[in-house]
Amino acid sequence: MTITSVKGFRDVLPADALRRRRLVDKAVVVLGRYGYRPLEVPLLERGELFQRSVGATTDIVEKEMYAFEDRDGTVVALRPEGTASVVRAYVEAGLARSMPIAKLYYHGPMFRRERPQKGRLRQFTQIGAELFGRADPEADAETLCLVADFCEATGLAGVRIRVNSLGDDVCRPRYRETLIAFARARKDRLCRDCRDRLERNPLRLLDCKSESCREAMADAPMMIDHLCDDCRVHHRRVLDLAAAQGLELENDPRMVRGLDYYCRTAFEVSAAGLGAQDAVGGGGRYDGLVEQLGGPSVPGIGFAFGLERMELATEIDADEPAARLFVAPVGEASSAMALALARRLRREGVSVELGSSTRRLKAHLKRAARDGMRHLVIVGDEELASGLATVRDLAAGRDLPRCFRLDAPAAEVLEALERMETREA
Ligand code: HAM
Repeated sequence: MTITSVKGFRDVLPADALRRRRLVDKAVVVLGRYGYRPLEVPLLERGELFQRSVGATTDIVEKEMYAFEDRDGTVVALRPEGTASVVRAYVEAGLARSMPIAKLYYHGPMFRRERPQKGRLRQFTQIGAELFGRADPEADAETLCLVADFCEATGLAGVRIRVNSLGDDVCRPRYRETLIAFARARKDRLCRDCRDRLERNPLRLLDCKSESCREAMADAPMMIDHLCDDCRVHHRRVLDLAAAQGLELENDPRMVRGLDYYCRTAFEVSAAGLGAQDAVGGGGRYDGLVEQLGGPSVPGIGFAFGLERMELATEIDADEPAARLFVAPVGEASSAMALALARRLRREGVSVELGSSTRRLKAHLKRAARDGMRHLVIVGDEELASGLATVRDLAAGRDLPRCFRLDAPAAEVLEALERMETREA
């Protein structure tokens, strides 16, 4: 019986892996221009990290996290997201001192045990960026510019950026009570999940997809109408700065996030062609988080995009880099010479495919033609005897004997091939 992959865990085969590499390359260029530098954090963390940051009552931690006891009794978890790990690393490495303003990006797999469907996996890949040390609204506006430029550079189509303010420690607790009181009065019309989270995580009631909850919560009080003065001024300034940059943001007072650490600016990015799971990226400000995880009082703001969803929403050309040359040893005696020639060229940056001496020339020719190569270098008995390579022009079906010395340096071989190409053209 064959062994298959685990549900929700997927292989990325070469053509897709290449497309992904291109996508990441494009994303990284934009991040670099905004001054972000790469950081790598582990896939496995202490479970407590996510309880204290993402939030113990969130679906991510409560229902979806792969958490287990390690052999020494430590409770560990496969990271469901990257921000908590980046903050932990920031605190642990004392970056607040060495990099008062730190801009960091990361990409890699995240794990959430959700119900798999199009664009939703249990292992998925995020590329994310975090900025530490800036509390001013200019930083939020610049982050939104980065998000918009990131979408453009990676070719995302039909992008919508929805923003909201989630308030802060001053205004949110008050608002939370108002919201709970509103929802309590309508408890019997709420779905089971929402009844469950009413007291613990009431903000999530605002974006529940169930029809009855939507109706019950249609006139619910909104955070945006209950912001304290500081949050209101901050939010206004972010929107004004973004508008001055021509960013088309959509105000969405119902937009809440599935992670607890946000305050003030929060946003979600959707793209066309994604179906039900249309959130391709999301992020926001998390000013209390560094302190909550034992660090100094340093504000932060960031975002992350899901690469699998980006791949569904963007066209990336999937041209595979083809080898330029095929070296075909004919007969076992020629294999060492053929290997040496291929290696010499490869070490000089030429992409070379080397055939097996157990195959016949015909098989080599077929393969080289299928891979769209222009030339095939034959290394057989005759070539060994003369020390000179025969080159087959695959398009013309012609042989050019004694084309170059089999032990010639790579540059000479390339020159000979180029001469051949100009003669052919
Ligand atoms: P998030 O909204 O939970 O935010 O996830 C960001 C993106 O990850 C989503 O928009 C989506 O594209 C992708 N994603 C999430 N879950 C799945 C899944 N099961 N399958 C496929 N893709 C998925 C965060 O994770 C925050 N850490 C973002 C952030 C960074 N906020 C501040 N800094």
